[in-house]
Amino acid sequence: MSNTQARVPLKARHVSFSWDGTPLHWVPGDPFTTHTINVLHLLLPAGERWFVRVYKQALPLIRDDRLREDVIGFIGQEAVHSQAHDEVLPHLRELGLDPTPYTAQVDWFFEKLLGDRTLPPGRPRRWWLLERVALIAAIEHYTAFLGNWVLNAGELDRRGADPVMLDLLRWHGAEEVEHRSVAFELFEHLDGSYRRRVRTWATAFTALVFLWQRGARFFMANDPTLTDGRATFRDFYDRGRQGVLPGTGDMLRSIPRYLSRAYHPSQEGDTEQALAYLAASPAATAAERRAA
Ligand SMILES: [Fe+2]
Ligand SMILES: [Fe+2]
Repeated sequence: MSNTQARVPLKARHVSFSWDGTPLHWVPGDPFTTHTINVLHLLLPAGERWFVRVYKQALPLIRDDRLREDVIGFIGQEAVHSQAHDEVLPHLRELGLDPTPYTAQVDWFFEKLLGDRTLPPGRPRRWWLLERVALIAAIEHYTAFLGNWVLNAGELDRRGADPVMLDLLRWHGAEEVEHRSVAFELFEHLDGSYRRRVRTWATAFTALVFLWQRGARFFMANDPTLTDGRATFRDFYDRGRQGVLPGTGDMLRSIPRYLSRAYHPSQEGDTEQALAYLAASPAATAAERRAA
């Protein structure tokens, strides 16, 4: 692992992707892996829009110029991530897979359950903001984990996975690795309570597992090419062993790392690898050329 890279200001890369040539099962012959990863397109548009809304409320509380700059860069990156995943959904509809029933639930989850409640100003409102900042730090532990995983998931290439989808996942994953310290540092700066870290980790982990397995089941059940599409834990475990999904053991081992009092996200992933991917990514390099 290498994280010795000098600090680079975070910038949003305004990528765009053309989905015309991407098949329904973009991991050839493997609808389960395809749809398990497709759940990202269901969760991230609403989830990352929620990150942005919460962080805009947190900005005035930041008393450190460098951290404020990082949070602004983070907001810019997450806004593009949310949009890029959202733009996959019309393509799925064209292929006969309408995600609206599921995304409506996800929107409710982030906008209503985790949204701005009508709390009185002062302590209750601050408590709810800190709670959500801590939830985002826990979720970002997993986005960095997944980003690091997908950057190294060579088995997806060997199985002929669609290169445009892989570029979306790896551009996003690389930016998750690039900005992986921001959410935790913001949480530490505003609060840092260990009890809150543990409590919000448990909430975030439970919600992610629940939403993910529901999303995978939803896609498998509604895939127009499958007559009896199911998604089981055994399928997930087996694909993890094959290297086309994250390994169950790796995911379990990441839990005590986040809950360690010595945790810092810089110990996870590899910044140089992420930046090297971004320097070669077709979408990110095209975005650079357009911005120049
Ligand atoms: Fe993201
Ligand atoms: Fe992120």
